[in-house]
Amino acid sequence: MRELALNILDITENSLAAGAKHVSIALTADFTADRMRIEICDDGCGMDEETLAKVTDPFTTSRTTRSVGMGIPLFKYSAESTGGNFGIFSEKGKGTRIFAEYVIGHIDRMPLGDFGGVVLQLATMNPSVDFTVTVEADGRKGVLDTSEIKEILGGIPLDMPEVRAFLKDYIQENLVSIYGGRL
Ligand SMILES: Nc1ncnc2c1ncn2[C@@H]1O[C@H](COP(=O)(O)OP(=O)(O)OP(=O)(O)O)[C@@H](O)[C@H]1O
Ligand SMILES: [Mg+2]
Repeated sequence: MRELALNILDITENSLAAGAKHVSIALTADFTADRMRIEICDDGCGMDEETLAKVTDPFTTSRTTRSVGMGIPLFKYSAESTGGNFGIFSEKGKGTRIFAEYVIGHIDRMPLGDFGGVVLQLATMNPSVDFTVTVEADGRKGVLDTSEIKEILGGIPLDMPEVRAFLKDYIQENLVSIYGGRL
């Protein structure tokens, strides 16, 4: 994986597989401290303690097509290889929260990549799931709440071409105004 946005997609796909109805994705950058943080929180089925203790090990997976789960180990590695931190918290029946913190200027920090594209894809392709995406950098903050958007649209699907095009521009403009090309 060469883009953190793809890690985010991967971790969020775990939330969707866990039956989450609401997923929050938060991206925070503090350029003065040279730190950024990604956090994904869901209300899916959660994990028992035994699974939770093993998920950062690449040999743990619930998939049947191959025995190795890579999403969480790669996300953890992407942060720790920059001198950052990683954490995962989960409770069976309640949900899961995963965060990764990066040193922005570290040579091994992967670029964020097409985060806007990932948000657009998640929001338009999972109509029954609500996403809250919060982006914050140096005092500038933007929140995208798909449940609010769906309410305003009153039944018009998010993947309708005109709506999708509007959302795409809206997300992109907001991201540019918050962190520009700095991540
Ligand atoms: N948000 C979550 N809620 C519940 N269980 C989860 C969640 N995230 C991960 N898990 C459990 O942890 C396991 C490991 O996740 P990981 O993303 O590392 O691998 P994977 O999803 O199995 O495979 P891959 O991501 O490589 O396709 C999953 O198979 C699943 O059982
Ligand atoms: Mg996965």
